[in-house]
Amino acid sequence: MLNFTYDIPTKVHFGDDALDYIGEEARKFTDKILLTYGGGSIKDNGIYEKVLLELEASGVKVYELSGIKPNPRIDSVREGIRIIKEKEIGAIIAVGGGSTIDASKFMAAGAMVDFDPWKFISENKPMSPALPLLTVLTMAATGSEMDCGGVITNLETNEKLSSGHKDTRPKVSFLDPTLTYTVNKYQTACGTVDILSHIFENYFNVDESMYMLDRIMESLMKTVIKYGPIALKEPENYEARANLMWASSWAINGFVSASSKSSWTVHPMEHELSAFYDITHGLGLAILTPRWMEYVLNEKTAHKFYDLGVNVFDIDKNLDKLEVGKIVIKKLNKFFFKDLELDSNLKDIGIDESKFDQMSKKACGKKGKIEGFVELSPADVKEIYSMCL
Ligand code: NZQ
Ligand code: ZN
Repeated sequence: MLNFTYDIPTKVHFGDDALDYIGEEARKFTDKILLTYGGGSIKDNGIYEKVLLELEASGVKVYELSGIKPNPRIDSVREGIRIIKEKEIGAIIAVGGGSTIDASKFMAAGAMVDFDPWKFISENKPMSPALPLLTVLTMAATGSEMDCGGVITNLETNEKLSSGHKDTRPKVSFLDPTLTYTVNKYQTACGTVDILSHIFENYFNVDESMYMLDRIMESLMKTVIKYGPIALKEPENYEARANLMWASSWAINGFVSASSKSSWTVHPMEHELSAFYDITHGLGLAILTPRWMEYVLNEKTAHKFYDLGVNVFDIDKNLDKLEVGKIVIKKLNKFFFKDLELDSNLKDIGIDESKFDQMSKKACGKKGKIEGFVELSPADVKEIYSMCL
């Protein structure tokens, strides 16, 4: 077990009354706030009016930045920083999913400096200090509501990369599961995959000493596998939406990764797919994950698949470990592509092999490899992309 510091200072208001606290919380930070949001779903479902009403009732002046796209662009970040500086705004409230929250993290840090925010990525400049960020989560997926990081896209360079700092972790997050009732089937499915993938990225690691965290992750995975399909069929099932929402936060808020030697594998491969083809993050993860598992499953790695199979998928514990691994992959394929109704290969979503060389190299980054549960070279990554066709 490695040494670690556990420090998750995001205050969470959870439940169908969460928005009632917005005004009093915002007031603690500022009397001028930037409200950021995406393509307008919050106007269709009434969240916008409710948030605005609460903020204005508490005497906070609200400025707005809308139009933040899925796979958020650095251009939105630049625009947000411009407004913050011009109006001398004291905090940001991001209302949306991971895209709106991530872009707002870059705004929060970018507002404090004079250089272009892409330098947080290209020159690895620290995202500190940062303006206080508050979030109203409208879909369960990324966990951005409770983590430090953000992922941002530069369309000019076909790059989608992440950065973050403890200063960009939200100060307060309002998690009301009823706000996710209007998330459509497809986004609910993609969000479910994303949560599960965050747990996999921590679960599949080379640290054999994290018995306690492994068992907690198995419970989180069971939760997501149980409630994802229910939320798809019954979008207004509070229990399902609430379990998914809280699982999304705990999958990535640092608790299950504390002390482990995990290194994320499928996410860097997926980020290349969404950087080049602008696909939904969770869909890319669904297509890649079972293929990655097939690629890395062998006598040496089978014990981890065995734990997953027996403890999460209820597979017969008397079977051979490798056999259990193969059944896990089958069950996962069924979960992603039948239960969650997602497309199962890249060709079906219009992606061919033409950029695989370029994407494989970029996925391996400056180190030239992905040091995960099983180390992958660009050639390995290319092979995994090819398996997804
Ligand atoms: O744009 P709006 O109108 O808000 O519509 C959004 C968008 O079209 C819609 N939506 C959200 N809440 C809704 C709703 N529609 C109806 N009712 C609601 N209540 O859903 C669509 C997708 O939204 P988006 O924010 O893009 O989804 P998600 O939360 O999955 O975020 C994805 C982004 O987060 C990054 C991904 O790479 C991707 O760029 N990630 C961020 C992470 C982090 N910060 O830690 C980790 C993740 O691994 C991930 O990489
Ligand atoms: Zn993710």
